[in-house]
Amino acid sequence: MKVVIGSDHGAYELKEKLKIHLVGNEYDVDDIGTFSGKSVDYPDIARDLCAEVLQNEGSMGLLMCGTGLGMSIAANKVPGIRAALCSESYSATKSRQHNNANVLCLGGRTTGYELAQHIVDTFLDTEFEGGRHLRRINKIESSQ
Ligand code: RB5
Repeated sequence: MKVVIGSDHGAYELKEKLKIHLVGNEYDVDDIGTFSGKSVDYPDIARDLCAEVLQNEGSMGLLMCGTGLGMSIAANKVPGIRAALCSESYSATKSRQHNNANVLCLGGRTTGYELAQHIVDTFLDTEFEGGRHLRRINKIESSQ
């Protein structure tokens, strides 16, 4: 599976650590930046990552900023993107089973690496359940 990852400066270190973890688990990782701790604007990263996810069917996105809030707000403005900000694994599971989330958002200043790694693994390993959940997602799509 292709996993597109991106962060601003607030989660640069978390992105770098998770990249090593994902490559080690043989995901096809596409890092769209940022590539240092220098300050950047999270909406620019969110826009580029969402475009990449939408262009690569079946891919998943992992977006990180200080809290994950800015990234999730920006990503959810993009039609076709369902971004889930998760700080624990139960929500990561449900974001896939019920919401068919295609982008996971994490906070580099709020979520430690070990927990973030578990959330990411859970997100990538969980399938959408479809059925009534698809009907609900279609209602969101048709209101955009
Ligand atoms: C940057 O300082 C910070 O605002 C950003 O990383 C993020 O937390 C925004 O939601």
